[in-house]
Amino acid sequence: MSLHFILDPELTAELCERIVELWVDVTNAGGAVGFVAPVTATEVRTIADPTLEGIEDGPDRLLLGYDGGRLVAMAIFTDPRFHLKTHLRVLTRVMVHPDTQGRGFGAALMREAERVGRDLGLAALHVTVRDGSGLDRFYRRLGYREVGRWPGAIRVAPGDDRDEILMWRGLAET
Ligand SMILES: CC(C)(COP(=O)(O)OP(=O)(O)OC[C@H]1O[C@@H](n2cnc3c(N)ncnc32)[C@H](O)[C@@H]1OP(=O)(O)O)[C@@H](O)C(=O)NCCC(=O)NCCS
Repeated sequence: MSLHFILDPELTAELCERIVELWVDVTNAGGAVGFVAPVTATEVRTIADPTLEGIEDGPDRLLLGYDGGRLVAMAIFTDPRFHLKTHLRVLTRVMVHPDTQGRGFGAALMREAERVGRDLGLAALHVTVRDGSGLDRFYRRLGYREVGRWPGAIRVAPGDDRDEILMWRGLAET
C-alpha cells in the first residue's frame, strides 16, 4: 500500500486529536519528536497546541500522510520567522506511526516534502536531529548532509545529553 498526502488540511478538532494521538504513539515507541517516553496526550498538547496554532494562523504548513483513511505520517514546514530566511524552512515533527514504520513511508514523506519545498520555491530544507539512535542515517540517505551540531544540546535525561545534529538539503540539488 502507498501513502497519499494532504498539504494544509482543514484543522478540525477531530484532526487535531488524531495528530496528538499519532504524536503520542510515536513518542511512546521511542521517537525523537520533542519528548521522551512515556508521554500522555495532555503533555503532548503543551507543544502540539501552539504548533497547530502556528499552522492554522500561519506561517507554518502541515503535510500529512494517509494509509487508506488512516493518518500515519506528518511533517511540518516551520517558517524561521526571520525576514532574511524566507527562502528556507525547517522540517519539524517528521514522524511515521510505529505500526507502519520500516515500509518506506518515511522516505516517501520526505520526498513529498522535497517536492512541496520546490513548488514553494524554497532554496533548502533543514532538519535538526537528536543524536544517538542512528536517525541521521535516515536523512543522509535522502540527500541531507550534516552542516553542524550543537554539542550536548538535548538533555534526554540527567547524565544523558545528546548532540543536536543540524542537517541540510539544498533543493537546487537533485
Ligand atoms: C524516522 C522515521 C520517520 C522513518 O520512517 P520509516 O517509515 O520507518 O522509514 P522508511 O521505511 O522509509 O526507511 C527509509 C530508510 O531509512 C532507514 N531508517 C529508517 N528509520 C531509521 C532510523 N531510526 N535510524 C536509521 N535508519 C533508519 C531505513 O532502514 C530505510 O533504509 P533502507 O532504504 O536501506 O531500507 C520513523 O522511523 C519515525 O517516525 N521515527 C520516530 C519519530 C522520529 O524520531 N522522527 C525523527 C525526528 S528528527
